[in-house]
Amino acid sequence: MRVLVCGGAGFIGSNFTRRSLARHEDWEIVCLDALTYAGNLDNLKPVADDPRFTFVHGDIRDRDAVEDAVRGADAIVNFAAETHVDRSIAEPEAFLTTDILGTHTLLEAVRAHGIARMVQVSTDEVYGSIDAGSYCETDRLAPTSPYSASKAGADLQVLAYFHTYGLPVVITRGSNTYGPYQYPEKLIPLFVTNAIEGGKLPLYGDGLNVRDWLHVDDHSDGIEAALLRGRVGEVYNIGGGNERTNREITGIIIDELGLTDSIVERVADRPGHDRRYSIDCAKASSDLGWVPAVDFEPGLRDTIRWYADNPWWWTKIKHQTAEFADWRRRWYEERESDA
Ligand code: NAD
Ligand code: DAU
Repeated sequence: MRVLVCGGAGFIGSNFTRRSLARHEDWEIVCLDALTYAGNLDNLKPVADDPRFTFVHGDIRDRDAVEDAVRGADAIVNFAAETHVDRSIAEPEAFLTTDILGTHTLLEAVRAHGIARMVQVSTDEVYGSIDAGSYCETDRLAPTSPYSASKAGADLQVLAYFHTYGLPVVITRGSNTYGPYQYPEKLIPLFVTNAIEGGKLPLYGDGLNVRDWLHVDDHSDGIEAALLRGRVGEVYNIGGGNERTNREITGIIIDELGLTDSIVERVADRPGHDRRYSIDCAKASSDLGWVPAVDFEPGLRDTIRWYADNPWWWTKIKHQTAEFADWRRRWYEERESDA
């Protein structure tokens, strides 16, 4: 099978690519990625010389680039997106163009080339916050951030193309994902790398927001299950079943690194911060035979040790280009001026 993986140089897309090539001798992967600040060829180093792997530098908003990359593909898996909620609050436009219009470009390519299957990688954030209980796939979408509203817009386009043109599409909605190679703007890699460097951990608000954590290997396996066994036109929730407050996550990081709570710095809350995410994953279990395999606390502790053992990967991002520091400055300056 020849799979076009869009956004394969990012955190989850590169895990999916490395994992798929290791598991399926007969798969070929073409990775189409614009290499935004979050795209990183270091993530694909382990497969760079594999003859079954091809990297194409291109943008999913660019029809010609997509047309070229899709030729001969049996399936598309779309990971490509702007993904950071904070950036969507500060600088929303790219979220609309990539997450919605980029997905539209891919849908048009599926239509024009008769691609047999497209998996749209979406997020539990499209349902919005929930105080108690869990959302299932038929619940209404109530996104609250420019990021989640853009992802919801893409989901609705994907479903519209199924209903209108009969396109063979499947959507996965994954929960908060953790593991190696995650860009260090997100909670876990930011806090782990700050802690290793002797810095502070900027905890938003009261630190009691809840996220459901999913190991990246489990997330990739859920997406693969949807690709191979999902029913077209269907949505599958892919969650870890590990709801934790941000304070609990912070506590495990501090404990694993042998530090103390004094490194936690309580900072102003994220505007519009969703309190709790929770999804019901019974459908993925019964229809796809997918259940997460990685136990949370050992998985998180292994992840923390991976960052401790691989400073070559994240120090380049944090210190050898201006992008990371510039973003942090823009984010905190904007919040000070709003205060
Ligand atoms: P990431 O930010 O690490 O990577 C995104 C990748 O997409 C990068 O390689 C980037 O270069 C590429 N990209 C961005 N804009 C592009 C464009 N216009 N054209 C081509 N490539 C482009 O993201 P991630 O955390 O790996 O997330 C992957 C997907 O999974 C996203 O769709 C995201 O919404 C979804 N998701 C993520 C999580 C999570 O916790 N990380 C959870 C659920 C769903
Ligand atoms: O739920 C799935 C989503 O999870 C994905 O769709 C997104 O792409 C992914 O980025 C993630 O979104 P979150 O906003 O939940 O992730 P983030 O790591 O940014 O934040 C996790 C929690 O930690 C959230 O409650 C905000 C808090 N936080 C985050 C940062 C960056 C802090 O307290 N301090 C921080 O500095």
